[in-house]
Amino acid sequence: MRAVDIIAKKRDGHELSPSELKFMVESFSKDELPDYQMAAFLMAVFFQSMSAAELAPWADAMLNSGEIIDLSQISGYKVDKHSTGGVGDKISLILAPLAVAIGLKVPMISGRGLGHTGGTLDKLESIPGFNVNLSVEDFKRMVDEVGMSLIGQTAEVAPADKRLYALRDVTATVECIPLIASSIMSKKLAEGINGLVLDVKVGTGAFMKNLENARLLAQTMIDIGTRMNCDVTALITDMNQPLGHMIGNALEVHESIETLRGEGPKDIVDLSVELVWEMAKLAHGADAPSRESIHDTLQSGAALEHFAKTIEWQGGDRRVCDDLSLLPQAAKTMVFEAPATGFLTGTNAQEIGLAATELGAGRNTKEDTIDPAVGLKLHKKLGDRVEKGEPLVTLYVNPSSKVDACTARLEGAFEFGESAVAPKLLLDRLG
Ligand code: URA
Repeated sequence: MRAVDIIAKKRDGHELSPSELKFMVESFSKDELPDYQMAAFLMAVFFQSMSAAELAPWADAMLNSGEIIDLSQISGYKVDKHSTGGVGDKISLILAPLAVAIGLKVPMISGRGLGHTGGTLDKLESIPGFNVNLSVEDFKRMVDEVGMSLIGQTAEVAPADKRLYALRDVTATVECIPLIASSIMSKKLAEGINGLVLDVKVGTGAFMKNLENARLLAQTMIDIGTRMNCDVTALITDMNQPLGHMIGNALEVHESIETLRGEGPKDIVDLSVELVWEMAKLAHGADAPSRESIHDTLQSGAALEHFAKTIEWQGGDRRVCDDLSLLPQAAKTMVFEAPATGFLTGTNAQEIGLAATELGAGRNTKEDTIDPAVGLKLHKKLGDRVEKGEPLVTLYVNPSSKVDACTARLEGAFEFGESAVAPKLLLDRLG
């Protein structure tokens, strides 16, 4: 088999056989296929896409490029959630302990932020001492004893994806539904889970800018999971404004702990409850606890102890759950004032995410280091009334923050109008 023939076949729009697709992934993983051939192949896939018959062996080969963690010895239903990425999306930090509080097991392997989107690992690492690099053995032990573990991708999990994603990132081949779906699912299925709930984001701060593509991505991931005996459902949710009020790493941990205390903003509470309810339905079907009872569990503060226990197990300072001042603090705050009077009718969530990145809260390249203390607090949400000159955003700033670049982005990120809009968070449910 020759890679050049497979590339030409895909380029010309013909369907590849399972053995050809397996050959591409396996030879790339073994370093027998050079980056330039894989890059050409990825671009051919970008333009010609992949049929369902092609995607199945491709995703199989990606998953089997590494270890599939065996959690079969651990009792209980093992279920995770994956978000396709957004701004202010700290849901994992709330959802995992909430799911444990209702009796589910959550083995969660997360990623880092890149560009305008934040990453769960970076947020967790803003907790003093928190270690996201556990061995697979410790990960399993934690899931068994604590009910959850929050770690980063180990070298053993879907290594083909790690290399492929890095190559896609620099060859303009990220925004391709079969490649995104197989990338996400190969990592999630390697966790050894029974069920997975997908939160597919759509809007100004999401990879998917329209509902049709978000649905297609969701269905593609559901099909991959179902074939591999994992129960999968998906929610399509709005990302036309950041979630909650805080954007930045320690700031998002702060807001998550407040939510776990029963003091969270409505959108964060609603989405966390909705996603945990989906997880519960996968585990228990019609016997799942109701949405209302999951809401009550969250508001009771019962999940906070599970989060504190997780922090302690992973080497972090659990006292942050009682004393938020133990989280990294920025040197100073500055206020960005509303430039107009009216109702907030639109936000460019991507620009707001990039504004936080200018302060040091995110990365432009994988090598950048992030500042855990800096970020933004939004005082207004879509639909709120705003008076010109009142605080719209508070900036949490350190000496290396690029304040001018941040405010330049914020200037173009808000739209005001005469009448209030009523944003809808949950747009669709699939699976
Ligand atoms: N997240 C992933 O893990 N993979 C993609 O391809 C895109 C987003």
